[in-house]
Amino acid sequence: MEAGPFRTDTAAPLLLQPLTLRGLTFKNRIVVSPMATYGAVDGMASDFHLVHLGRFALGGAGLVMTEATAITEQGRITHGCLGLWQDGQIAPFRRLTDFLHAHGALAGIQLGHSGAKGAGQRPWHGNGPLGDPDRTAREETPWPLVAATSEAFDNGFPVPAALDESAMDALVADYCAAAHRAQAAGFDVLELHCAHGYLLHGFLSPLGNRRDDAYGGSLANRMRFPLRVAQALRRVWPEDRPLFVRVSAIDGVDFGWSLDDTVAFAAALKRLGIDLVDCSTGGMRVPREHGLPARAPGFQVPFAEGVRARAGIATMAVGLIRDAAQAEAILRAGSADLIALGREMLSDPNWAAKATVALAGETGWTAWPQAFGWWLQRRARLDRPKAGE
Ligand SMILES: Cc1cc2nc3c(=O)[nH]c(=O)nc-3n(C[C@H](O)[C@H](O)[C@H](O)COP(=O)(O)O)c2cc1C
Repeated sequence: MEAGPFRTDTAAPLLLQPLTLRGLTFKNRIVVSPMATYGAVDGMASDFHLVHLGRFALGGAGLVMTEATAITEQGRITHGCLGLWQDGQIAPFRRLTDFLHAHGALAGIQLGHSGAKGAGQRPWHGNGPLGDPDRTAREETPWPLVAATSEAFDNGFPVPAALDESAMDALVADYCAAAHRAQAAGFDVLELHCAHGYLLHGFLSPLGNRRDDAYGGSLANRMRFPLRVAQALRRVWPEDRPLFVRVSAIDGVDFGWSLDDTVAFAAALKRLGIDLVDCSTGGMRVPREHGLPARAPGFQVPFAEGVRARAGIATMAVGLIRDAAQAEAILRAGSADLIALGREMLSDPNWAAKATVALAGETGWTAWPQAFGWWLQRRARLDRPKAGE
C-alpha cells in the first residue's frame, strides 16, 4: 500500500501519531475493541457503561468503541446487550460520548444484529441458547430469530426464519435508523459488525448461507446483502465521519470463508467509501481439524496485513496484542493502521497512557489526566538511579 494518509514518516512512535480519516483526527492509533458486557436492561446504556468505557478515555485511548449494539430488539445476542432500536436509547449514549470527548477520546459504536446467534445466554450462564433454567432464574425468555438461512446455529439453538427480501429491506432501514440515532448520540465512528457468525457474517460465509436466490451461492451473491447495508450506512452516516467494517477474515484454516474472500469483500467495501476493515476471525462452527490458527500473540495480524496490502484499504489489527512494543512493531511493519485491544484493556484501562510513557519517555506523562500524571511523573523520578548509584 502506498504511503498515504495512513503513514507518518517519522522516527517518533507510530502508535502515538495522530491519524486523520475523513474529517476526524485520532490522537493516537490505540483503540478499545468492542466488548460485550451484558449489563444493559432493555438495550439501555447505564452508569456502568459510562464508567466502564469512560475509564478508557481517562486512560489515554484514541478511540473507544462500544460493544455490539443491536439495531433491533430481536438482533440482540443476549438480554443484556445494548441497543439503538428506539429514540429513548439515545440519551445515555450522549452522556457517554460527551464524557469521552471531554477527555480527549473519539467515540465509536459497533452496530450489529445477532442473526442465528441471538437469544443466547451470557457467557457465564453457559453461552448456549436461552432455555427453561434462564426463564426460572432470571425470567429471560428466548425470542424468534432471523438469519440468512433457516438453519440452527448449533444444537439446541432455535431455528431462525430465513429473511425474505421485504424483511431484508426492513433491516436495511433499521440499520440506517440506528445510524441516525448514533449520530444524534454524538458518535464519531460507526462500525458495521460483519463478523463472528452473526447476521451479516451468516450471509457472507458459505457455512451460514445456503440460499438459492440472488443473496446466496456465489461469492458475489453472498456479499450482496452486507454490501447493501454498508452502502446504505455510508449514505446516511455523515460524509466527514469514518465508517469501519469488522470482518472475520477466515472461518477456519482452509474452511468456509477465506482470506481471498475477505480481500474481495474489502475491495468492494472500499469502492463504497468504507474507510477501514477491522480484522478479526472465526465465529462459525468449523470442524476441529480446520480450527483457527493457534492463539499466539498477534495471531490475527497477518489478516490485517493481507487485507491492507491486497485491497488497499486501511485496517485495524486485533487479537492478543498486549504490549506497546508489539503494537508499534505491527504499525512499523505496515501491517495495520490502528491497533485494537480487548482483554488487555479490561485488565488495564490505563494501557494507552502507560504505552505513551513506555514509548515516548518523559513527554508521555502528558497523555495522563493532569490530576494523575503530575503525581505519577514525580513518583517515577524517585525510581531513577541517582548519580553514583
Ligand atoms: C468480553 C468480550 C466481549 C466481546 N464482545 C465483542 C463485541 O461486542 N463485538 C465484537 O466485534 N467483538 C467482541 N469481542 C472480541 C474483541 O473485540 C476482540 O476482538 C477479541 O477479544 C480479541 O482481542 P484481545 O485479544 O485484545 O482481547 C469481545 C471479546 C471479549 C473478551
